[in-house]
Amino acid sequence: MRKPFIAGNWKMNTNQRGALALASGLKDRLAGVDTVDVAVCPPFVYLAAVGAALSSSNIALGAQNLYHERNGAFTGEISGDMLKDVGCSYVILGHSERRHILGETDDLINKKVRAAIDGGLLPIFCVGELLEEREAGRTHDVVSEQVKNGLEGIDAERALAVTVAYEPVWAIGTGKTATAEQAQEVHAMIRALLGELFGADVAQQMRIQYGGSAKPNNTAELMANPDVDGLLVGGASLKVEDFAAMVQTVA
Ligand code: PGA
Repeated sequence: MRKPFIAGNWKMNTNQRGALALASGLKDRLAGVDTVDVAVCPPFVYLAAVGAALSSSNIALGAQNLYHERNGAFTGEISGDMLKDVGCSYVILGHSERRHILGETDDLINKKVRAAIDGGLLPIFCVGELLEEREAGRTHDVVSEQVKNGLEGIDAERALAVTVAYEPVWAIGTGKTATAEQAQEVHAMIRALLGELFGADVAQQMRIQYGGSAKPNNTAELMANPDVDGLLVGGASLKVEDFAAMVQTVA
């Protein structure tokens, strides 16, 4: 009942030419795929061009961040309205690189998630533990806190707009994927928590992606888990062949 959802997070990669080549390559390779929702999230400055290259394709456009105010004196920031204006449907929020490199807090991420939903965007809301937190047996506590704080003040109806992405920080960009078992275990915990927050019916409808060194060769195994509804893909989303292969595996 949950349609799989694969999103590519291009992070601070590509240039204009490369971004367009990636977009048009994916458009060709994925034409006709309709059993999987697919999105790509390029850097802000390439959103409009990539959106144009993807027009009349089945690939949606997403951004990697937003600022929660609608407009005003916030030098260097980008609002949800601006993202909608250039054709974005999705926005990644709370990514571990924003939490740990740029210092974003649960409170700020919560403001952003609410602003995204209110502005008609679909947040891909990321959570995940650090290696030392996993080793200290604190994975459930850390991830639960992030989910509760990040989704605070959101009612069940609005929660349906959210995709949660579980991304263990130790697996991001390291080549160390969580095992299918480790992913399923945390996904099931997150779904149970979403059930407490929003009711079992809503929790059953919400998609939970896995992210962290997801690649063509581990896609099938990860996606075979009952609570893994999709993937948030970094490195492998920068290669047409790899990302297309992952979508096709799921399709
Ligand atoms: P990775 O990144 O696939 O390169 O590990 C995933 C992410 O950070 O979303």
